[in-house]
Amino acid sequence: MHHFSIAISLALGASVIAHPGGHHLSAREVVRRSELGLKCRDKVAHYHERRWHDDTTSYQIQTKAPYFETIQNDTCVLTPEVTQGPYVYPQSQTLRQDMTENQPGVPLWLDIGVLDMATCEPLEDVLVDLWHCNATGSYSSFTDLSPDTAFLTLLEELGIDIDDFEIGVTDLHTDDSTFLRGMWPTDKNGMMEMKTVFPGFYIDRAIHIHVQVHTNWTLRENGTIVAGNTVSTGQLYFNETLEERIMALEPYASHTQTDRTTNAEDSVFPYDSTGGFSPLVDVIPVDGEDVTKGMIGYITLGVDTTAIEDGDNYVGTL
Ligand SMILES: *[C@@H]1O[C@H](CO)[C@@H](O)[C@H](O)[C@H]1NC(C)=O
Ligand SMILES: *[C@@H]1O[C@H](CO)[C@@H](O)[C@H](O)[C@H]1NC(C)=O
Ligand SMILES: *[C@@H]1O[C@H](CO)[C@@H](O)[C@H](O)[C@H]1NC(C)=O
Ligand SMILES: *[C@@H]1O[C@H](CO)[C@@H](O)[C@H](O)[C@H]1NC(C)=O
Ligand SMILES: *[C@@H]1O[C@H](CO)[C@@H](O)[C@H](O)[C@H]1NC(C)=O
Repeated sequence: MHHFSIAISLALGASVIAHPGGHHLSAREVVRRSELGLKCRDKVAHYHERRWHDDTTSYQIQTKAPYFETIQNDTCVLTPEVTQGPYVYPQSQTLRQDMTENQPGVPLWLDIGVLDMATCEPLEDVLVDLWHCNATGSYSSFTDLSPDTAFLTLLEELGIDIDDFEIGVTDLHTDDSTFLRGMWPTDKNGMMEMKTVFPGFYIDRAIHIHVQVHTNWTLRENGTIVAGNTVSTGQLYFNETLEERIMALEPYASHTQTDRTTNAEDSVFPYDSTGGFSPLVDVIPVDGEDVTKGMIGYITLGVDTTAIEDGDNYVGTL
């Protein structure tokens, strides 16, 4: 039943879900994490400052400071235990800083800061693992699954009984493509950057980017992950107004086969927002003016390194 409810949550609206995530946080645990996050607020603000004002750091993209007049202190994602979804596929997630692979779309440089919630200090050398769908809703490695077919219908078409479906166990992959999947470790400031394109959407889900954070990780020769402790599983979202602007552009605009689900309508979004924290990525235009020409996104992930997740994911069990 546990896994059944996850599948339902992906396929249907929020009204029918009892448990949206792969892991069930008790109310007490949510409160504990929220308190950890509040404790870190001032430190979070400090790291934002350092990230954007320190000219001695060498990031791919140099940006100007003004952006930080609007940044929120409370950008930690503190309820990471939302579902990783059915499209996790570690075999195609490789170590790289540009996961675009010629997929068309608005360029996005995603900057992620990882903070240890126990100490409010940046976490160095943890692997940030990202994957999302392309501008018209398809995931690499799953390109034969239609982004416009409801999940339950997809399972039916594949001849998989819903009762037999388990997130992270049932393998739905259709090919070996790797676009829009990548991982990169954090530096000494707890920062990493991934170049990608702004995601599109697929049926019944708001626009989102999946993220996991792994500690104690090791890689295969081809750069895919062999093992690691997953200490965070979350989904990142964008501001609705921004999404409307980007979705009006090609190639996003040509995806008319299904309606876009907004954050407000999404079944998983509310659980990423638990505890008053925001899973929304802050963005600034790369050219300082026009986000449709490309943008830099920033978010801080608050991670509890002792909360090692098991079950529910491939990592460590492959
Ligand atoms: C945000 O950070 C600034 C600068 O450190 C601090 O003055 C302010 O109190 C913080 N706000 C909250 C809500 O914690
Ligand atoms: C990497 O190697 C593993 C193990 O041989 C394999 O399963 C996976 O498909 C490979 N991935 C890529 C992207 O080459
Ligand atoms: C997204 O990926 C699918 C599957 O590979 C492909 O058919 C589609 O053209 C891609 N979308 C865009 C905008 O390139
Ligand atoms: C880290 O990984 C190694 C080997 O993969 C394992 O022996 C060790 O117990 C792990 N350490 C922790 C803290 O999980
Ligand atoms: C989204 O962006 C608009 C325009 O910048 C802003 O008015 C609105 O408050 C933002 N919404 C959220 C949830 O941050």
